[in-house]
Amino acid sequence: MRMDLSDKVALVSGAARRVGRAIALELAKQGAHILAHYHRAEASEVRDALNAIKSLGVDAHGVAADLSQAEGVDLVFAALRERYGGLDIVVNSASVFQRRGLLDVTLEDWDLTMAINLRAPFLITQRAARLMAENPIPGGVIINICDAGADGPWREYPHHGISKSALWMLTQVSALTLGPSIRVNAILPGAVMKPAGRAISDEDWARIGERNVLRRTGAPEDVARAVVYLCQEDFITGELLRINAGEHLR
Ligand SMILES: NC(=O)c1ccc[n+]([C@@H]2O[C@H](COP(=O)([O-])OP(=O)(O)OC[C@H]3O[C@@H](n4cnc5c(N)ncnc54)[C@H](OP(=O)(O)O)[C@@H]3O)[C@@H](O)[C@H]2O)c1
Repeated sequence: MRMDLSDKVALVSGAARRVGRAIALELAKQGAHILAHYHRAEASEVRDALNAIKSLGVDAHGVAADLSQAEGVDLVFAALRERYGGLDIVVNSASVFQRRGLLDVTLEDWDLTMAINLRAPFLITQRAARLMAENPIPGGVIINICDAGADGPWREYPHHGISKSALWMLTQVSALTLGPSIRVNAILPGAVMKPAGRAISDEDWARIGERNVLRRTGAPEDVARAVVYLCQEDFITGELLRINAGEHLR
């Protein structure tokens, strides 16, 4: 059956800009109210994102939190309880993406990557499951945004890949454990947006697109529509949906 998302409450991490923003907007288009988490986004970016969400006729509320710290997760859930009192949808999109050789990964790099990409989604899953159990009809949906690292080893991003591979395992364990009331799925995007803070020329970006079967890069909205699909379709759990134009086949 198709789940109606209107008046559902959705927590989206990293929602003020980039892919997370597109996800928040797409959920808002379906009528979901958005608790938009952000970390270092500029005040103007947060304001713009919240206004864009509200212009779709739903409520939006921003909360700043460093998800590398457990206290950051506490802040997010305090805001959720205060503003909405409940929770229906979680999208764990916030992430850190460090390019390093395996031998160059420092202890700090490892800890930061694991804390943001894996521990935060784990803590959020625990807290979300408890809050979702309090819904008038207990239940909800959790979606974890993975990466190519969930499909196999990636030389240039070793600790990142390991964190995303483990995030896919967290997805499966959570789906198995939290069903039948809570569905948990993952999305594996391909190249949908140039990495933040790294200068990649349009030519190089096009070359990255050439690696997949459809020979082009995608857009954040491709991922956002897949999030909506996984929220709506209530016979899907424990699934990894690749939005990568067949990159894993080559
Ligand atoms: N872009 C792609 O083509 C692509 C490809 C494959 C997979 N993905 C996955 O899709 C998701 C979104 O991609 P993206 O490119 O938009 O990611 P991104 O820009 O690298 O990061 C997303 C957000 O994570 C937040 N973040 C970083 N450090 C944080 C911290 N310490 N505490 C809390 N939040 C923190 C940032 O929020 P602020 O901006 O507010 O600081 C940032 O906007 C990620 O999980 C990524 O791995 C993306």
